[in-house]
Amino acid sequence: MGEEARQEITVRRPDFAFPDDLDPVLIEGCPEESYTNVGLSLLLPYLEPYLIRSMQAAKPLVSDPELLRDLAAFNAQEGQHYRQHIRFNQHIRLQGFSRLAELEAELASDYRRLTDTRSLRFNLAYAEGFEAFTMAMARFTFEHHLLDRMSPPARDLFRWHLVEELEHRCVAFDVYQHVARGYFYRLFVGLYAQWHLNRFVLRVARAMETADPVAFREKWGGVGRKWARVRPIVWLALRSLLPKILKTYLPWYTPHAIPMPEAARAIAAEYTRPSPTA
Ligand SMILES: [Fe+2]
Ligand SMILES: [Fe+2]
Repeated sequence: MGEEARQEITVRRPDFAFPDDLDPVLIEGCPEESYTNVGLSLLLPYLEPYLIRSMQAAKPLVSDPELLRDLAAFNAQEGQHYRQHIRFNQHIRLQGFSRLAELEAELASDYRRLTDTRSLRFNLAYAEGFEAFTMAMARFTFEHHLLDRMSPPARDLFRWHLVEELEHRCVAFDVYQHVARGYFYRLFVGLYAQWHLNRFVLRVARAMETADPVAFREKWGGVGRKWARVRPIVWLALRSLLPKILKTYLPWYTPHAIPMPEAARAIAAEYTRPSPTA
């Protein structure tokens, strides 16, 4: 696969509105899948500021002016992402789920500790582990039109976010290559990052499913019904998402060789309302 022309990274400043009675079942009839999306949203206001801190720490070591521009655009996009997710998350919290606060506090201290105690190389490899994962997720999501099933306010938020994840898909990789390097280090820290963040996402989903087990069972049925519901998406993920993730583990992997999906380009154009300060 050939390398793409340099990707434009556009900083957009959308203003999403969420209803006070936002239904945490974002995908009709699919509470488990919906709650993993909520888990992802709850992760971001802790993870994305950590990515920004890591990039800021790398900045003095970056000598390439183009990469410095990309780094600034990456940070500006991530800054917008977590701010919009904070607003979404506040509306989710209005629906109860008291255990989420405890999980979030633990995650906040994890990311603080990583910044304070780990090397810049580690934090950049973690950032690339997350970015490689979200790029694969975004390609999978657009390829199968998965967001079309989501309720409109959440769909708009996730569509915008995933489009921008694709736009800046090369930045964490390039910064890691420029400042740190090392294939095995990228691989092992990347795997740790993906385990760490997915563990949080799955814990959130579990906490939401078990917040009121009796009501959940009455509404959604027992384990048999659960597996019938989640089997199609799990099967699709194994067939289509897993190969995309596995490709990012190869020694010759580069996000520069991954083109922006057509659907994502179209959505990017639709969302582009550059701010005067962008
Ligand atoms: Fe993001
Ligand atoms: Fe990102």
